[in-house]
Amino acid sequence: MEEVRVRGYQEKDQSATRNICVATANGFAVDTQKQKELLCLLFNDYYTENEQDTCFVAANEKDEAVGYIIAARDFQEYKKLFKKYYMPKIYKLSFFQGLIRSIGLAYEGRVSKEYPAHLHIDILDGYQRMGLGHKLMNTLINRLKELGVKGVCLFVGAKNLKGISFYKKFGFTEVKRIAGAVCFGLKLD
Ligand SMILES: CC(C)(COP(=O)(O)OP(=O)(O)OC[C@H]1O[C@@H](n2cnc3c(N)ncnc32)[C@H](O)[C@@H]1OP(=O)(O)O)[C@@H](O)C(=O)NCCC(=O)NCCS
Repeated sequence: MEEVRVRGYQEKDQSATRNICVATANGFAVDTQKQKELLCLLFNDYYTENEQDTCFVAANEKDEAVGYIIAARDFQEYKKLFKKYYMPKIYKLSFFQGLIRSIGLAYEGRVSKEYPAHLHIDILDGYQRMGLGHKLMNTLINRLKELGVKGVCLFVGAKNLKGISFYKKFGFTEVKRIAGAVCFGLKLD
């Protein structure tokens, strides 16, 4: 069986992580270059460009990323930079998605007191359900604990049963449901 190891994100992983973001898109149209760009702006680029110390990849034997976990350690810091540098690009590509993300930012702020960090995790199809999700999650959680972060949360589509099952299995608990998404949280202290 191919050996896959978890390691810290490196600059060379940028295009692989963007491709994984697109390949694992759930409920997002990714037919055009513009849609792919939008997806990466929404869910990938901020983390790998600004918070590399909380980004990890699962790399195959060629040292190519086949999965990742990426996180922002503090929502308020994330929001400041995201609004300044990423929202204008998102609005430029899609006013509608810009609006949706603005509403999301306002809502996500409400859970950030208890769960200051948030994450995204995605693994390519052929590498799922072999324990990599747990390895990536454990690696991130150890790092967040080292950084003194008291809780981490995420939002998953209410129809993403695979994701929901994974988070519950890991020990996350449901915090809230809103507009087709479920917020899961895990306390770290
Ligand atoms: C969700 C995801 C990160 C889990 O990572 P993983 O490496 O597959 O998970 P692990 O092998 O560590 O853990 C396995 C558990 O995850 C869940 N799971 C993973 N694949 C599943 C599948 N095809 N069907 C149902 N549950 C699944 C189950 O709880 C499973 O436990 P089980 O095998 O005892 O039923 C991964 O499947 C993935 O990237 N999916 C596509 C993208 C996605 O939905 N990301 C989350 C968006 S919020």
